[in-house]
Amino acid sequence: MKNLILIGFMGAGKTTLGRALAKELSIPFLDTDDMIEEQQQKKISAIFAESGEPYFRDLETQALRQLLERPQGMIVAVGGGLPVREENRELLKKLGTVAYLEATIDTLEARLRGDTARPKLQGGDLRGRIAELMRARRAVYEEAADVRICTDKRDRKEIIEEMKTYVL
Ligand code: S3P
Repeated sequence: MKNLILIGFMGAGKTTLGRALAKELSIPFLDTDDMIEEQQQKKISAIFAESGEPYFRDLETQALRQLLERPQGMIVAVGGGLPVREENRELLKKLGTVAYLEATIDTLEARLRGDTARPKLQGGDLRGRIAELMRARRAVYEEAADVRICTDKRDRKEIIEEMKTYVL
């Protein structure tokens, strides 16, 4: 079985849906944010605050390289900003089938309201931040993806059934 890698904006459901799918299929689930927090013994917000974003982005590339060393057959969720680096997009392609979980700005705003854990969303106007990042990232997600899955106004079960069809 090939790996299925979930990309998309913060709040798209990569971790929640990925974990649920992996559980249903009884296969491993890994999340690059969790790998980084575990290895650094720090929250992502602390890594950003203490070492800066470029350092965090290096850790993401490192996590992808570690995933490439593992046996195939996993569901992997990656941080929302990870595909922005071209090098990471190349590593993602090597890692498996890349699925882009799509959501509209309205949906993302509703899901991310009140979030305090994500450094890219703190301070100022949430909708404006989402819209600005989305403008810069949409094309990147589309380029990195083999398949696109809409998550708006859809039942979790239905999305998971669609995801299953891409587990090859
Ligand atoms: C980020 C997304 C986060 C996390 C970090 C930066 C981003 O992951 O990697 O806060 O730049 O979009 P999630 O997409 O899992 O929230």
